[in-house]
Amino acid sequence: MIKQNISRRTWLKRGALATGALMSGMVLPNTKPAFGMKPFKGHYNLREMHHIAPPGLEGLRARLLANENPWGPSKKAIAAIAESASSGNRYVYRSARFQVMMDMLAEKEGVPADHIMLAPGSTDILEKMAFMQLRSGGNVISGDPSYMSLINTATKLGATWKNIKLNDDYTYDLDSMEKAVDDETKLVYICNPNNPTGTFTSPEKIKSFCKRVSSTVPVFLDEAYLDLLDDPGSQTTIGLVKEGYDVVVCRTFSKIHGLAGLRMGYMVAQPERIEELKNMVRTEMGLCVTTLEAAIASLQDTEFQDFTRTHNKENREYVFEELQKSGMSPIPSCTNFILFPIQMTTEEFLSKMYEKGVGIRGFEIFEKPYARVSMGKMDEVKLFVKSLNEIVS
Ligand SMILES: Cc1ncc(COP(=O)(O)O)c(C=O)c1O
Repeated sequence: MIKQNISRRTWLKRGALATGALMSGMVLPNTKPAFGMKPFKGHYNLREMHHIAPPGLEGLRARLLANENPWGPSKKAIAAIAESASSGNRYVYRSARFQVMMDMLAEKEGVPADHIMLAPGSTDILEKMAFMQLRSGGNVISGDPSYMSLINTATKLGATWKNIKLNDDYTYDLDSMEKAVDDETKLVYICNPNNPTGTFTSPEKIKSFCKRVSSTVPVFLDEAYLDLLDDPGSQTTIGLVKEGYDVVVCRTFSKIHGLAGLRMGYMVAQPERIEELKNMVRTEMGLCVTTLEAAIASLQDTEFQDFTRTHNKENREYVFEELQKSGMSPIPSCTNFILFPIQMTTEEFLSKMYEKGVGIRGFEIFEKPYARVSMGKMDEVKLFVKSLNEIVS
């Protein structure tokens, strides 16, 4: 049972109307942020980086810019990839192994398999949900700053972004987000833990927000970094799906499993949402045989997951302390990256880091420059700390 007041028939009718509008070339609504705030935008000097490290990122001595897992993939996943390479002539879709994966996830998350959809990475799910919900305009609400994939797709489709500034402690201002819901709101996006701040909003608060708001509009919960918490099972919001609420929870194999380059993610949602999506896009056709086997092996390799969790935390604590010692004010993080304000332009800071072979990211957040460093192996984060001290001394 979906606790919402939009019937399945209404969803389908709206979809047909929207497709018709697109095909008839109807003008879509404007894309200005409703609150008039300056949108948060990545500030990443790609040209400069390629100039310093030709032919690209491979030239970096410390690659700390994309929140990847420096220890992955697990050895068991690598063996599974090698073994399955010869099955590369077969589609994954509807294979027995596909069903094995679905059953494993269903058991892990405690939902029936028809509440799960696999996808080649969670970006695929983010973009497709943006397309499903916002292709005929309306607005999407999210915290600001937050992860922008879904928002970017939505605004490019003609939707409006209602960006609600995070609280001073970088948690979500859920009251303001709830007040921002109006007749035109088609989706609420919450990334928890949040990227790029690394902060975590109490799941209890998020759950009670979802219980109220999802009766009006679906809530998309991006839990890409949840697995890096000490006890992810007790922190996930997937319980809301089990209880029948109209939320979409999105998970990825790119972080704790270290499979970013192999592409695997999944969403947990009401079967009607999944059916609606599958009626329009054949997401499962994007899945890859070797990735599927890697993901199955990695799911069972809890030792590797624990290893990643422990070492990530150790390195994060080290970097956090070192940032403080260097006079920075890093934002406490529970993820595999740390955001901190900087006293020079992002371009200048990134360029100086690249000169030392260190790749990090920079952001302009409400017109102030910040840098975000992802965790790497200890020698990489030590190089970052050494470079930082040289730059700021
Ligand atoms: C919050 C968040 N969601 C989703 C993604 C995309 O992950 P994937 O590799 O599964 O597409 C990222 C990637 O960094 C992320 O930070």
